[in-house]
Amino acid sequence: MKKTKLNPLHGLLGAVIVSGMLASTAAQAEITQRGAMLANTCVGCHGTNGVSTGPAIPTIAGISKAYFTDNMKSYRDGSRPSTVMGRLAKAYTDQDISDMADYFSAMKYVPQAQAAKADMVAKGQKLHTKYCEKCHSENGSNPADDAGYLKGQWKPYLEYNLYDFTHDVREAPEKMAKKLKELQTAEGADAIANLIEFYASK
Ligand code: HEC
Ligand code: HEC
Repeated sequence: MKKTKLNPLHGLLGAVIVSGMLASTAAQAEITQRGAMLANTCVGCHGTNGVSTGPAIPTIAGISKAYFTDNMKSYRDGSRPSTVMGRLAKAYTDQDISDMADYFSAMKYVPQAQAAKADMVAKGQKLHTKYCEKCHSENGSNPADDAGYLKGQWKPYLEYNLYDFTHDVREAPEKMAKKLKELQTAEGADAIANLIEFYASK
C-alpha cells in the first residue's frame, strides 16, 4: 500500500531549509553530536560531563576552544609532555579535535570540592594577585583567557604541571616562565604550594 500522508520529517526539513538560522542550528547540532560521539572515549578518564573524578586527570568541561585545540595538538606532536594524552591524541584529526572542542567548551565547568589549608590559602591568594591574575583572571576561572582552569582544578594535577613548568618539562609561555622565576626567587620555597592551596579552596 502506498502511503498518502507525507512523512512529518519532510515538513520539518523544509522548515529548516527555508530558515537560514534554523539550518545553521541544525549544522551546529550535527557538529556537537559528532563531538559527543568522539568524546565517548574520554569520559572513562575525564568523567561523564568532562568533570574528572581522578585527581591526576584534569576537568575539561567548559575548557576554551583555543586552549583545548592548542593542547590536543601539542600532545599529538609531542611538544607537551604527557603520560597518556600523547598516545591518545595521535588518533585524532584536526576536524575531530575541532568537533570535540565545540563539545567540551559548551559544557559547564564544575570546580572540584577539595580540602585546603586556610593559612596557605590566604598567602596563595596574595601571590596569585601579584604574579598570575594578569593572565589567569577571575582567579584562574575565566575560560576566555585561553590558559586553562586553575581555581577548582584538581590539586595533584596542578602540582604535576607546576613542577613540569618549573623544571623545563612543560614549556610555559615566555612571560609566565619569567613570573614563575620571579615568584620562586622573591617568595621562597613554599610559594607554589601556597598557590595550589589557594586554587583548591572555594
Ligand atoms: C586513560 C585516561 C585518559 C583518557 C581516555 C583521556 N584522557 Fe585526557 N588526560 C588524561 C591525563 C592523565 C591528563 C594529564 C596529561 C597526561 O599525563 O597525559 C589528561 C589531560 C588532558 C587535557 C589537558 C587539559 C588541561 O587543562 O590542560 C585535555 C584537553 C584532554 N586530556 C583531553 C582529552 C580528550 C579530548 C580525550 C578523549 C579523546 C581524553 N583526554 C582522553 C587522561 C586521559
Ligand atoms: C603572561 C601571561 C601568564 C602569566 C603571568 C601566568 N600564566 Fe599561567 N598560563 C598562561 C598561558 C597562556 C597558559 C596556557 C599555556 C598552554 O596552552 O600550554 C598558561 C597555563 C598555565 C597552567 C596550566 C593549566 C592547565 O590546565 O594545564 C598553570 C597551572 C599555570 N598557567 C599557572 C600559572 C601560575 C601559578 C602563574 C603565576 C605564578 C601563572 N600561570 C602566570 C599565561 C600566563
